[in-house]
Amino acid sequence: MKIKSAEFVMSNSDVAKCPKNRIPEYAFIGRSNVGKSSLINMLTDRKSLAKTSGRPGKTQLINHFIINDTWYLVDLPGYGYARVSKTSKKAFQKFITNYFEQRQQLVSAFVLVDIRHQPQIIDLEFMQYLGEKGIPFGIVFTKADKLKPKAIERHVDDYCQELLKTWEELPPYFITSSSKKMGQDDVLDFIEATNEE
Ligand code: GTP
Ligand code: MG
Repeated sequence: MKIKSAEFVMSNSDVAKCPKNRIPEYAFIGRSNVGKSSLINMLTDRKSLAKTSGRPGKTQLINHFIINDTWYLVDLPGYGYARVSKTSKKAFQKFITNYFEQRQQLVSAFVLVDIRHQPQIIDLEFMQYLGEKGIPFGIVFTKADKLKPKAIERHVDDYCQELLKTWEELPPYFITSSSKKMGQDDVLDFIEATNEE
């Protein structure tokens, strides 16, 4: 798919205030600092459409971007940010689950995981949650530029083996690097294919 236009629409702290029309949307979720905002910029060929930062906790709101005037990309805050209180963790969880449970127009979520790391409980639990709610998702492995090809293969295989302990089938997955522009076509083709269904 060719990206002809990509524009910021709005930021919201409340899912009830998100765009009311029914155009399809795709949301990016994962731990803080995993590379969600960078991935949105890479996918859309824009340098700073979504705000990125070396410090975790940069994205705090639900951010809608409209692509080719026909579908939304949604940048979400990261979960698992250690330096927040228990109360704000709870409030944050509610904010995220409200989003996923109330956005009827969500076609698919993308759960981002850093390709360098072993499967983390917080990510596996989040995928479990999406499964229980019947929300389709794909896994996006990020920062593949940090590993050599052989190591990429090994890490992805290990991840898949872990998933197969609880899942009958693997979700679609994508190997990406925002800094090396890797995986752009794979993710965009997936979006295009599911968008037409
Ligand atoms: P929060 O909004 O805080 O949840 O973070 P995020 O998941 O949106 O991460 P963001 O895109 O802001 O990137 C976090 C850091 O990772 C930044 O320093 C990015 O430059 C770096 N980063 C993101 N993607 C890649 C990548 O593909 N390769 C490398 N090497 N670094 C990356
Ligand atoms: Mg972000």
